[in-house]
Amino acid sequence: MSDQLKVAVLYDVWGEEEKEEVDAADTGRKRKVKEDREEILDALTKLGHEPFYHVLDGRPQSLYGLGKCGADLIFNLTESYAGDDTKEMNVAAYMDLLGIVYTGAGPHAHFLAQDKGTAKKMFHFHGIRTPYFATAYRGNIDHAHDVKFPLIVKPQSEDGSIGIDAEAVVNGVKELMERVEYVQNEFDSPALIEEYIEGREIYAAILGSYEKTEVLPLVELDLSKLPVGT
Ligand SMILES: Nc1ncnc2c1ncn2[C@@H]1O[C@H](COP(=O)(O)OP(=O)(O)O)[C@@H](O)[C@H]1O
Ligand SMILES: [Mg+2]
Repeated sequence: MSDQLKVAVLYDVWGEEEKEEVDAADTGRKRKVKEDREEILDALTKLGHEPFYHVLDGRPQSLYGLGKCGADLIFNLTESYAGDDTKEMNVAAYMDLLGIVYTGAGPHAHFLAQDKGTAKKMFHFHGIRTPYFATAYRGNIDHAHDVKFPLIVKPQSEDGSIGIDAEAVVNGVKELMERVEYVQNEFDSPALIEEYIEGREIYAAILGSYEKTEVLPLVELDLSKLPVGT
């Protein structure tokens, strides 16, 4: 492999998002904020690589095309397939079967991370501290610490803060029961009930695995501009 790589920046679109992409391209309209994929394409170009986009649009043709795209490496930005978040791991598994080299987690890690309850149990096993929690689904409790208010109630398997808003933080039993019911009905999902941790929010990205890991510079989410009480 030469130093200069053909890198396919892989992302997925579906439904409304797909339509917005096409509209923007048709009208030549400029979006204000650069998408992550554009930043990544620019960075790869600056580093002397040959990046190009490959889109998974939910049609099998886009999957066949991925197998034939000729990239040395896939920069995997997909988070779902055909609008289904639970298929995120299948994209990685498909690339494994094709023998394509890609960035990011493999299918097993995607599967385990999809269920926050499972992920938290694994963190605990490895001595990584995570807020005390309980899970509830239609009267069944899979696990329960002796949690203390305030609590935050979220769907067990969503991401992107879906199902988490101001109402998600509860201070009493009535609010808690109502929010658990909301999560179950709205997302057809168990509710993860977690102790609410006050404090700063810092993101740590880790590259690699096992003994070959590198922690990238920490990034803080600036919450100072939020309205009082949120
Ligand atoms: N236990 C908690 N204590 C305080 N804030 C929380 C807690 N859990 C979630 N949040 C807030 O909600 C946001 C989204 O929660 P998170 O569990 O990361 O869900 P997602 O998978 O949707 O990103 C977090 O970035 C944080 O601001
Ligand atoms: Mg999060």
